[in-house]
Amino acid sequence: MGSLLKNALKDVFTKEEIEKLYSSFDIIGDIIIIKIPDELEGKKEIIANTLINKIKTVNTVFQQISSVQGEYRTRKLCFLTGSNKSYTEYKEHGCIFKVDVLKTYFSPRLSTERLRVSKMISNNEIIVNMFAGIGTYSIILAKKNPDCIVYSIDSNPDANDLCIINSKLNKVQDRVIPILGNARTIIDNQLKGKATRILMPLPEQASEFIDSAIAALQNNKGVIHYFAHIKSKSKLDAVEEGKINCHKNFQCYHYKIISGRVVREVGPRIYQTVFDLEIF
Ligand SMILES: C[S@@+](CC[C@H](N)C(=O)[O-])C[C@H]1O[C@@H](n2cnc3c(N)ncnc32)[C@H](O)[C@@H]1O
Repeated sequence: MGSLLKNALKDVFTKEEIEKLYSSFDIIGDIIIIKIPDELEGKKEIIANTLINKIKTVNTVFQQISSVQGEYRTRKLCFLTGSNKSYTEYKEHGCIFKVDVLKTYFSPRLSTERLRVSKMISNNEIIVNMFAGIGTYSIILAKKNPDCIVYSIDSNPDANDLCIINSKLNKVQDRVIPILGNARTIIDNQLKGKATRILMPLPEQASEFIDSAIAALQNNKGVIHYFAHIKSKSKLDAVEEGKINCHKNFQCYHYKIISGRVVREVGPRIYQTVFDLEIF
């Protein structure tokens, strides 16, 4: 994808300008979302028009004008050119997803992570995805593991609606169960003691929901994929800091770290980490 952007812009912009743009864009289906650095703000129309003219699969260009924010983790977008719509289709690991980039969270940058976890699932697992969004993780896990069941919770009604649609689209509606609501309340009321595995893909806040994640496990045993944002001076140190973060938050439980890794850098010296923890 990076080379697409570089090629599209190479006749109009300098190498330095392209490098600045390169680190901050997403292509989701036929939509490009790009962060424009302050020094290139005056050239945003040229950037948008160049992208839409040169990349044939793109129909819409948005400028991202806020960070991901609020409970629903959405970002503010400013329409730049093309067809003014926020709805698109995105393909990943043999699955197809309807996405609304304005009303729901979605990041193609978690693709490797979703595939990694899908390869860890054993037979007949029952998984609770506490922060499921439009169902990307849940559906890929279900598609790759034909006998697992995934309870897919999200508090954003638009994300839950898309999860219902996407489950049907990928023919896993009998095993992906979308549930609208707050993960804590849903687990308390419906999912206590059900799961062999829990996904917690809400790095900003996952630590506040650890008691609910443990409550959802069968006999307090199973695997938790715990996401966090870790401040650290380097990627390497982030894994060590991540271990300390796990200890701080899981010290009242019996746990073992199976593995831990940096998923991506999300800001200057801030890393998104995921730790796979066995609870026993
Ligand atoms: C970072 S997104 C994760 C999306 C998804 N896992 C993916 O890979 O695309 C976090 C999601 O958690 C949802 N959320 C935030 N707080 C929640 C809560 N207390 N209970 C349930 N869902 C919540 C948001 O609406 C958002 O869709």
